[in-house]
Amino acid sequence: MRKPHALCLPFPTQGHITPMLHLAKLLHSRGFHITFVNTEFNHHRLIKSAALDPTAQMDGFMFERIPDGLPAQEINATQSIPELCASVTKNCSAPLRQLVMRLNGERGAGGPPVNLMVRDAVMICGQKVADDLNIPDVVLWTMSTYTMMGFFQFEELVRRGYTPFTDATQFSNGYLNTPVDWIPSMPDICLKDLPTFFRTTDPNDIMLNLCIQIAHSLPKLSAIIINTLDELEHEIIHATATSFNFKGPSYAVGPIYQLLQIQLPQSQLHSTIKSNSNLWEEEMGCLDWLDRFDPASVVYVNFGSITVLTPEQVKEFAWGLANCNHPFVWVIRPDLVSGESAVLPPSFVDQTRERSLLAGWVPQKQVLGHPSIGAFLTHCGWNSMLESICSGVPMLCWPFFADQVTNCRNACQLWRVGLEMESKVRRDEVEGVVREMMEGEKGKQVKQKVGELKVSARKAIEMGGSSHSSFEKLVNDLRVMKR
Ligand code: UDX
Repeated sequence: MRKPHALCLPFPTQGHITPMLHLAKLLHSRGFHITFVNTEFNHHRLIKSAALDPTAQMDGFMFERIPDGLPAQEINATQSIPELCASVTKNCSAPLRQLVMRLNGERGAGGPPVNLMVRDAVMICGQKVADDLNIPDVVLWTMSTYTMMGFFQFEELVRRGYTPFTDATQFSNGYLNTPVDWIPSMPDICLKDLPTFFRTTDPNDIMLNLCIQIAHSLPKLSAIIINTLDELEHEIIHATATSFNFKGPSYAVGPIYQLLQIQLPQSQLHSTIKSNSNLWEEEMGCLDWLDRFDPASVVYVNFGSITVLTPEQVKEFAWGLANCNHPFVWVIRPDLVSGESAVLPPSFVDQTRERSLLAGWVPQKQVLGHPSIGAFLTHCGWNSMLESICSGVPMLCWPFFADQVTNCRNACQLWRVGLEMESKVRRDEVEGVVREMMEGEKGKQVKQKVGELKVSARKAIEMGGSSHSSFEKLVNDLRVMKR
């Protein structure tokens, strides 16, 4: 049988690169040749953060790069998501095609011919290349299945006249509380619970139209791999599989990072494969700092890799955390705050010195796994949410945009593993909700619930568990998959 060669193409942001890299490592461990394609921009960031050693070589696992089509930018800056989406959609097909031609023309040096595209759903550019090569086009959906169902309603929202908005007042909560009652397995939801990219007055909005394009690309896919677990999303996984014209198989194999941990312990990895996907350098010292605190006593605050806060929001979070009197670790990426006044009030730093640690980027999974962490104030990115559940840490949910509002709704109302915060940040609310989580009755309830889900998630990735079995089937199917 010919060795499979998968071209792995993530959407170029942290929350998408990480699960794709984990999947690539898993496939490599099962004999797949892997070419992992980063953008030039991220390639340099990975080298700078020491996540990638450009000199390391490894049989059967190669890193390649293509331009993202955007003007050169300072390496620590957050790229605008709509601009990035527009640019990769428009500009990445040609360099990707050239890359594949080079790999296939290198007579062995590039490995066996590329015969499988494994791409992020957002990387529509990969579909064109898979079509040209007549190879299977497989999508890794890095977000939740509820989110997938939500994204795929956008055309219906347009058809029913919910979007584009006719005036700016519709961005406010009143309108966003409009019930949405036609989506299978998503009862009792409102417009505000759907991924935010439909919120526009512009019929030509990049994100609205890209989401519709992604939904259209679905029926042609050879397979969908979802970074989720059946135990969390059973009904919606089933509903999604039967709701669209998609005829191919879908595989719920998450949390992929846990599957990787159990199948490929770090100690067994070659240095290239060890490379992580951090676009920022990890500050490991925070783990020692956490050792000094009692179990479940510290609040961990992190808004992921692309959230940008206003100086006002930072100030309100800061004073809320200062006033709640619990110790906390707060990750403030160098590009977290918009504008120039990215400084925390000096009196806040003075007042919380003994019980706070501010860091630029931390090893999040290890932090969440540390016994002293009692709660996670999160923007509800899907990776963060899975990591929190797998560590049994309850969440304080402050969704920023995109799929995060859907994740927040599910965490707080469906799975009951989180407490929701208002979108307008107010110090007294921050203080109140932290206290409720750490000291109150509601906190106790969500802690118990997240503990139960942690156990289910662990079972899912162990031998015979839902994600484990799904992954075994995926590997077998991919080996023989034809277009
Ligand atoms: C984005 C979207 O916002 C998210 O909703 C979507 O599901 C994926 O793409 P991001 O905002 O970065 O991702 O959030 P998240 O999905 O939580 O991913 C962040 C990743 O970076 C996590 O795996 C987290 O562990 C890691 N991280 C973050 C660190 O390792 N250290 C940090 O200090 C911060």
